[in-house]
Amino acid sequence: MNLIQYIQYDCEVYKMKRIAVLTSGGDAPGMNAAIRAVVRYGIGMGMEVMGVERGLQGLIDNLFKPMGMRDVSDIIHRGGTVLKTARCPEFKTEEGQQKAIKNLRANGVEGLIVIGGDGSFMGAKAMTDHGFPSIGIPGTIDNDLAYTDYTLGFDTACNTILDAINKIRDTMSSHERVSIIEVMGRNCGDLALYTGLCGGAEVIIVPEHPLGIDQIVDILGGGQAHGKTSGIIVLAEGAGHADDLKAQLSERTNMVVKSTRLGHVQRGGSPSCRDRYLGTCFGVRAVELLKEGIGNRIVGIKNHQFYDMDIIEGCAMKKEFDLDLYQKAMIVGR
Ligand code: ADP
Ligand code: F6P
Repeated sequence: MNLIQYIQYDCEVYKMKRIAVLTSGGDAPGMNAAIRAVVRYGIGMGMEVMGVERGLQGLIDNLFKPMGMRDVSDIIHRGGTVLKTARCPEFKTEEGQQKAIKNLRANGVEGLIVIGGDGSFMGAKAMTDHGFPSIGIPGTIDNDLAYTDYTLGFDTACNTILDAINKIRDTMSSHERVSIIEVMGRNCGDLALYTGLCGGAEVIIVPEHPLGIDQIVDILGGGQAHGKTSGIIVLAEGAGHADDLKAQLSERTNMVVKSTRLGHVQRGGSPSCRDRYLGTCFGVRAVELLKEGIGNRIVGIKNHQFYDMDIIEGCAMKKEFDLDLYQKAMIVGR
């Protein structure tokens, strides 16, 4: 590891006595697995672990509580986050950050682990800038962070969406209709791409590669010409709204079009095997960094290898959409 890149506190052998963990931004399945790993691995390394409730807001409001081995029993299989989460505009201000630092120090905490998305990582960076070593764990169903192949919660959300697509397909096929299924993801099309591919969608619409209404009509018409009598369109929320597209397609075609916005069902549910694995390994990695007094890092997975990198560098990376996979998905969906 390149020690120059790291912000080091004291000397290499310095061992933190007390660390804290919180979840911030939108919740994601697998966050509980990460909390459990941080608590148990931290204690296993001889440290005390505090949980902070309600995300970065909890740092300002002093919502610290000691976490023991048994406090994280029976949570690995649960969606959501037992520590609660929040969005906290005050944390973007110097005043809010100073309150957080004061409370961290008053509670004897020496290092912080923030589980969340890129916004939350900016909060973690602010703490390190104030001399407080902090580590980010990627937790968001959107999979919108460029530095890591997968974020916590993405796999579970994909499986939840797939389950819905399968069910909708049954009834669309029986009634010979077309269904538009709007999925989450903010400005990232990954949820739509992977679930469209795996759910056998005829059309996948993502913000990274917009399709015009004429193209969509052509694709559906082509399917009809080849004997298709029903269809599935997966629409990323960043590319438009299901109801608007339904109105346009109903006007332009003779097909009966239905629309479903899956909404928050996509964020809940028991985490998949993959998300429990990621949560556990991210949590362990974060503790190992803090144990060495290292902050300002975010942990991730690249080509099946767990690794960590500088927060600023990682957050500045631009996510590349997998256009090749998208094109393949659109061809095999016809
Ligand atoms: P996510 O972490 O999922 O990207 P948000 O973008 O809503 O979610 O960010 C979560 C929280 O992170 C915000 O409510 C705020 O408290 C904190 N945050 C976001 N940007 C910054 C920033 N530039 N500086 C400090 N804190 C920030
Ligand atoms: O970032 C996760 C996410 O679920 C997005 O996919 C979605 O756009 C957003 O959060 C919804 O946020 P809220 O729960 O605040 O409506």
